[in-house]
Amino acid sequence: MTLDMNNDWWRGAVIYQIYPRSYQDTNGDGIGDLGGITQRLPYVASLGVDAIWISPFFTSPMKDFGYDVSDYCDVDPMFGTLSDFDLLVETAHAHGVRVMIDLVLSHSSDQHPWFVESRASRDNPKADWYVWADPKLDGTPPTNWLSIFGGSAWQWDARREQYYLHNFLTSQPDLNFHNPDVQDALLDVVRFWLERGVDGFRLDTINFYVHDKELRSNPGLPVDQRDDRIAPRVNPYNHQDHLYDKNQPENIAFLERFRALLDEYPGKTAVGEVGDAQRGLEIMGEYTAGDNRVHMCYSFEMLSGKQPEADKVAQIMADVDDKAPEGWACWAYSNHDVVRHATRWDLTPAAQRAFTTLMMCLRGSVCIYQGEELGLPEADVAFEDLQDPYGIEFWPEFKGRDGCRTPMVWEKSNQNGGFTEGTPWLPVSSEHVNMCVAVQEEDPGALIHHYRRAIAFRHAHSALRQGDHDGVKHTGTVVHFQRSDGDETLFIAINLSGEPAVIDAPEGDWHQVGQELGSAAPGPDGKLHLGPWQPALALKK
Ligand code: BGC
Repeated sequence: MTLDMNNDWWRGAVIYQIYPRSYQDTNGDGIGDLGGITQRLPYVASLGVDAIWISPFFTSPMKDFGYDVSDYCDVDPMFGTLSDFDLLVETAHAHGVRVMIDLVLSHSSDQHPWFVESRASRDNPKADWYVWADPKLDGTPPTNWLSIFGGSAWQWDARREQYYLHNFLTSQPDLNFHNPDVQDALLDVVRFWLERGVDGFRLDTINFYVHDKELRSNPGLPVDQRDDRIAPRVNPYNHQDHLYDKNQPENIAFLERFRALLDEYPGKTAVGEVGDAQRGLEIMGEYTAGDNRVHMCYSFEMLSGKQPEADKVAQIMADVDDKAPEGWACWAYSNHDVVRHATRWDLTPAAQRAFTTLMMCLRGSVCIYQGEELGLPEADVAFEDLQDPYGIEFWPEFKGRDGCRTPMVWEKSNQNGGFTEGTPWLPVSSEHVNMCVAVQEEDPGALIHHYRRAIAFRHAHSALRQGDHDGVKHTGTVVHFQRSDGDETLFIAINLSGEPAVIDAPEGDWHQVGQELGSAAPGPDGKLHLGPWQPALALKK
């Protein structure tokens, strides 16, 4: 397999997210490593994906499992070395798979030398590299801003007798993007990895980079306007309208500097994670408008809540058209932060197939999360096995993110599913072991084959990869729309329900495609009679 040399390869790409701690352990320490990813690349390539996104593997005290970086330009020893990373990239490319890495620029670890220096005094050269502020007269924090992981977003530091800002853990201080030296240092990190041959970046919490310089407090939100898309319902973070702690206009200038650097290296891409319950799609539109900011924004629309019904899917598409008309979304149903969608949406195997087909027909790029191709449910992790500080803080109302981070399952013969010879850092779910890769490869009816077929279907049609969409509507439980690119127009209808449904066939001359995905043909009455969870896919003649 060779790499697609088109510089626009990211448009409509299928990106496979790997959480490195949990993919494959090769040294028996119970934690996955870069060597393990390299070993599994033939499998990844066999799915037909365009790229992998690897969650952080940089040097880190692992308080937030790598999202707290203490050296942006090295590999944490538990994951391997820079040479292991080089081999991974070389092997991926030889298999026709591009490599995207996860840059956590908004904050560092408190162990990063920049922060160690910054907190030492009020007048050292890095004194202004993080967000420091004096207390109010009464000693309380300068604003009402909250940390997503619980409590105030301000932590007192006795050395400087000041507070510093942290949107996540207290051990994840926020870098001060108002300081151009900070921006320069972070862009040097970006260049370091571009020079090493990465194909792109997932930018963690891209809308948190810049805070309000005037340190204004956020307004509160009335109860009926609270939205738990970004944080669980029991988190008071949802009680505020985040006007000032993130989403600041100065961020655009930084993104333009970032993009100018990326464009020095042809064919590179970036997807920004936008976490905002109130204005996520507007920010997506703003950050992906034109061709001088980021290429894609990662959307939260389908990462929370109950199973979206046909009307909801049509509404999301209409909202994207409305709020981000020039934008390019990147869709995901599951990731390392949310309950796996098989469980969150309570999907039967047939329903999982329907949602996979839908995903591969959506306008935008898509991310699938390791194990999603096996239909893994959320694993049950007992309180005593919890690792995630977020879950420990909000237990038992919110159990944190360990249930979607348990190890990938490869074989049935090994009690750890082939993940490790040692003791896994999170227990392997016994329910998962029965759904492992080896078992599904042998079963022609298994979900993994449907993922391969749906991905191949997307790749076979430029209309699906890069085309426009039109007429996104729902008729009862069926969502339907057309995608077109040049001479190719496809009609897509998917019944998002366990009951049969009937809709009118599209007008004009069409022929049925996607039989391998269970596509229905029009009946003698000219209508489309869709079985439960059945799609109808047709190509315009
Ligand atoms: C990542 C999380 C992480 C947080 C702080 C996110 O949105 O996906 O896993 O805890 O950023 O870096």
